Amino acid sequence: MSTSPAKMSLTGIKPTGEPHLGNYIGAIKPALKLAEEYEAMYFIADYHALITVRDPQLLRHYTRSVAASWIAAGLDPDRVVFYRQSDIPEIFELTWILSCMTGKGLMNRAHAYKAARDRNQEAGKADLDAGINMGLYNYPVLMAVDILIMSTDVVPVGRDQMQHVEIAADIAGSFNHVYGDNFKFKVPQAIVPEAETGHTLPGVDGRKMSKSYDNTIPLFCSESQLKKLVRRIPTDSTPVEEPKDADSSNVFQILERFAPAETAAETRRRLQAGGMGWGELKNQLFDVLNTQLSPLRERYNALMAPDSELDALLTAGAEKARKRAVPVLDQVRKAIGIK
Ligand code: TRP
Repeated sequence: MSTSPAKMSLTGIKPTGEPHLGNYIGAIKPALKLAEEYEAMYFIADYHALITVRDPQLLRHYTRSVAASWIAAGLDPDRVVFYRQSDIPEIFELTWILSCMTGKGLMNRAHAYKAARDRNQEAGKADLDAGINMGLYNYPVLMAVDILIMSTDVVPVGRDQMQHVEIAADIAGSFNHVYGDNFKFKVPQAIVPEAETGHTLPGVDGRKMSKSYDNTIPLFCSESQLKKLVRRIPTDSTPVEEPKDADSSNVFQILERFAPAETAAETRRRLQAGGMGWGELKNQLFDVLNTQLSPLRERYNALMAPDSELDALLTAGAEKARKRAVPVLDQVRKAIGIK
C-alpha cells in the first residue's frame, strides 16, 4: 500500500440559485464521486455570489440551500471537508497579498470580465466598464486564493471555469518566482469530471435543462410540482399502439439517467414494440424520479429548518479547513516580510 497522502481536490460552489435535475446529474454527482479518489474538499463561495446577489435574505437563503442540497445529494460532512468561504478569514488577507502579485493585464483578459465588456459594447454603451464592479474584475484572484490556500492538487471544473484555474496556476507561479526560496504554493491543475463530457439532460421544453431557459425540474420540488413538470415535457402525437423511438424522446432521455439499467432497457423495448403511450411513459418517469428523490427531498427539508444541524456542520467544516489555511498564510506572511 502506498503511504503518500492522497491528492486533494477542491470544488467551489457559487450559491446563486436552487439546484435542478441537470445540475444533479451534470455537476453534483460527478463532483461527489471525486471523494472516492481524492481527499475531497467542497466549499460554498458565498463571497463570490456577492458580486451579483444584492438581497441579504436571498444570499443567506441560497447559501443554506446550496449547503443543504449537497448534503442531501450525498455529501458526507464527516468524510470530506465542507465549509463556507466567508468562515475562512485567511482567504481575504491572502486575496490582498496575491492581488499585489497579479498583473492587471492578466485580469483584463479574464473571460467573465471580457464578456461583461462585450455586452456593454453590444448595448451601445460608451463606457465599456459600465456596471462592472471590482468584485467581478478581481473574481479570478479570489478564486485563485480559494484554491491556493488549501494546497489544492486538482480543481474539477466545467469548461467555462478552466481559464480561472489557469490564472490561479499563473498567480502561484508569479509568487513562487519571487519568494520561492522561502515558500512555494502548490500549482493546481484543472480536471473536467466525466459527466460533463456526456450528453446533457433535456428540460421541460425539450431544450437543454438550464436556469436561463426557465425549463428546469428543481431537485427538491414537491411531489405535485414534480408531477406537473413531468407532464409538461413535450411529446409528439404518435398514437399509443405505434412503435416509438426511445432515443428521440425527451421523457425517455431523463428516465434513462435515473432508472435502473434494466428498467430503462425494458421500457425501450416496450416503446419500440408499440402499445406503450407517452402518458404511460410519463407516469413511469414520475414514479422513478419520485422514488429516487423523496429521501433526498426529506433530508433537504429537514436541513433547511431554521434550527437544523446545518449551521453546526458548516462551522465544524470551517474549523477543519482553517487547519489547512492558517499555516499557509503564516508561511506566506513570513516569506513576504510582514512577519
Ligand atoms: N467560479 C466558480 C463558479 O462560478 C466557483 C468557484 C469559486 C470555484 N471559487 C472556486 C470553483 C474555487 C473551484 C475552485 O462555478
